Parts: sequence; structure tokens; C-alpha cells
Amino acid sequence: MNSILKTENLHKEYLLETGPIEILKGIDIEFNRRELVCIMGPSGSGKSTLLGILGTLDIPTCGQVYLEGQELTNLSEADLSSCRANKIGFVFQSFNLISTMNAMENVMLPLFGLKGVRRGDIRNRAAKLLELVGMGERFKHLPSQLSGGQQQRVALARALVNTPAIVIADEPTGNLDEETGKTIIDLICSLRDDLDMCFIIATHDPSVARRADRVIHLRDGLITNIEMIKG
Ligand SMILES: Nc1ncnc2c1ncn2[C@@H]1O[C@H](COP(=O)(O)OP(=O)(O)OP(=O)(O)O)[C@@H](O)[C@H]1O
Ligand SMILES: [Mg+2]
Repeated sequence: MNSILKTENLHKEYLLETGPIEILKGIDIEFNRRELVCIMGPSGSGKSTLLGILGTLDIPTCGQVYLEGQELTNLSEADLSSCRANKIGFVFQSFNLISTMNAMENVMLPLFGLKGVRRGDIRNRAAKLLELVGMGERFKHLPSQLSGGQQQRVALARALVNTPAIVIADEPTGNLDEETGKTIIDLICSLRDDLDMCFIIATHDPSVARRADRVIHLRDGLITNIEMIKG
């Protein structure tokens, strides 16, 4: 089966003092293995809200999310957190590396506390991934000793260290210049192909969206268009 993540009639509502506001108004979408999907839409259209729910960081007001066939909305907080730790990788606009830890330590971090990973394997896996993202020479650099593009490479390695089923990235090139952003997307495309991975990326950048397999356009909490991009 190629499908990896699926939503049905996803709604998200916030209760404000002035009354409820609906942010997501019924999202039905399916994501596949070995796919790069971009989510585009004006600021406030609900991209980050959707990514938060897809990544189990947030829960929908109603509707379902299925990850590898498993319904997530009924899981306990502990099961959700274990699902997140095992199956999902995250990349953020501002890299979110721990400033007091070097590149290697940042990448190893998600594996501490994961059941079934032998301690000796943690360093090996982190080292392999840092090599893979082109950071083999900089294991011991602190984030402050790395450029933005290099920090995002380390963040990508960190997102991959638990061999996730999907990687969710919220404007991963938003803080990078065009050329550096392109190298990050090049890397994501090769990881998609080599690791059979699904990347879901929110972006405002049309040059990023052009590299996607599909672009989902969101407006006011609804999908307005799904664009298939020819490679
Ligand atoms: N915790 C919250 N409480 C109330 N409203 C919220 C909350 N989180 C988000 N919103 C609202 O939800 C809407 C969608 O926000 P979201 O962050 O998903 O937009 P976005 O498409 O990611 O925008 P951007 O492109 O600026 O990142 C916004 O109007 C925002 O004010
Ligand atoms: Mg956002």
C-alpha cells in the first residue's frame, strides 16, 4: 500500500472569548510514500495548524487522522507521544537546535528514550545521517558555529534519526537565502527517493513548490486545489 497518512473531514476550532472560530473546515487528504507534498496558502489559511495535527502535536476538533492505517484521534497522550517519537520527524523554519549541544548531540537526542534502540547504535546512526546531509566534517560544531543552511542540514538529520514514516516541515527554507534553500530542497528530494520517505512541507516559496510531486492549496481552512507537478 502506498498511502501512509490520511485525513477525513478534519476540523479545527478554537474557542475565543468572542466565540468559536473555525480554522480548518473539513480537510480530506491522503499522502503517499516516496512523495513530496507542499502546502501553500496565504498567511493564516491554516497550514501550520494542519501540520500540527498531521504531526500529532495537536488534536482536531473532529475528523480522523490515519497514520499507516492506525486511527490517531482515539489514542491516549502516551500512545500519541510514542507514535510521534517513532514515526514522525519535524523540521522547523528556525531550525530549533539545542544551542548548548553540538551537531552530533542534537541529532542523537530524539533516540534517547526510544525503546529498542541500543546505545551503541545511536552514535553510529547519527554519524551516518550527518554524513548523508553533508555535515560529516562538523560533528562537534555548536549551532552558533554553523551557518543557517548548515543548521538546517543538522535539523534534517535529526528529523530522520528515528527513521520516520513521514517528515513534516513548516517553512524549512523560510530563513534561508534562495541558493541555500535550494540545496535543502535538493537534499529533501534525494532523501525522498533514497529512503522512500514522505515529506509534507508548508511553504510560501513557489520555487520550493515547483519541486513537489503535489501542491495542496489551502484558503480559509479549506483545500481549494490540488496541483500535480510534473517532474
Ligand atoms: N491557539 C490558537 N488560538 C486561536 N487561534 C489560533 C491558534 N493557533 C492558530 N490560530 C489561528 O489560526 C489561523 C491559522 O493559523 P496558522 O498558523 O495555521 O496559519 P498559517 O497558514 O500557517 O500562516 P503563516 O503562513 O503565517 O504561517 C490564524 O488565524 C491564527 O490566528
Ligand atoms: Mg504557518
